[in-house]
Amino acid sequence: MLRIGVMVSGGGTNLQAIMDRIEYGTLKNCCIATVVSSNSRAYAIERAKRGNIPVTVISRKNFDSEEDYDRALIEHMKKYRVQLVVLAGFLSRLGDSFIQEYRNAIINIHPSLIPSFCGKGFYGIIPHQKALEYGVKITGATVHFVELEYDSGPIILQKAVEVLPDDTPETLQKRVMEQAEWVLLPEAIRLFSEGRLEVNGRKVIIKN
Ligand code: GAR
Repeated sequence: MLRIGVMVSGGGTNLQAIMDRIEYGTLKNCCIATVVSSNSRAYAIERAKRGNIPVTVISRKNFDSEEDYDRALIEHMKKYRVQLVVLAGFLSRLGDSFIQEYRNAIINIHPSLIPSFCGKGFYGIIPHQKALEYGVKITGATVHFVELEYDSGPIILQKAVEVLPDDTPETLQKRVMEQAEWVLLPEAIRLFSEGRLEVNGRKVIIKN
């Protein structure tokens, strides 16, 4: 049984997608051992509670340094014997020690086709605003392994989503979530849990 630690900061719809797939039995041999929220007001906390998943708020603002924050997060993940860390709309920065501790075992969902509309400052609704401003016809979502640089790690899965002429950032965000994010993130977890992801330099090989 793969023990997952899900890290959140907001609405938690991606957390919900994982919880649903586990409950429906389409994501097997996985359990969410802990949910960590960086934000005490995140609606994701309610979702975790409703699913009887232990949830803890660990906010960067309560720590003096990035190292202290990392140390607390590592300690927490160890306590819950987490084997895979999933960033599901987690908006705080993780430091080098956390990333090294869980090397190739932290995955993130990003709401664009990386390397477009990503990097520092591109989170939540912003990638969709920027995609519409740029006038792209296709956007999407990406799941990738996490490295220190924002949105820079090896790409696991991507899915394209059409931009429609009358889209607003909100309608586009909703379509990207429904058509791409809520599908891709559980799928990447499934592949990880089956030991099918091999990182080779920048590339992720999906083994049969
Ligand atoms: C999602 O769209 C996720 O891709 C994005 O935040 C949203 C969280 O929604 N993540 C980032 O922008 C990370 N750079 P949720 O809380 O409803 O899952």
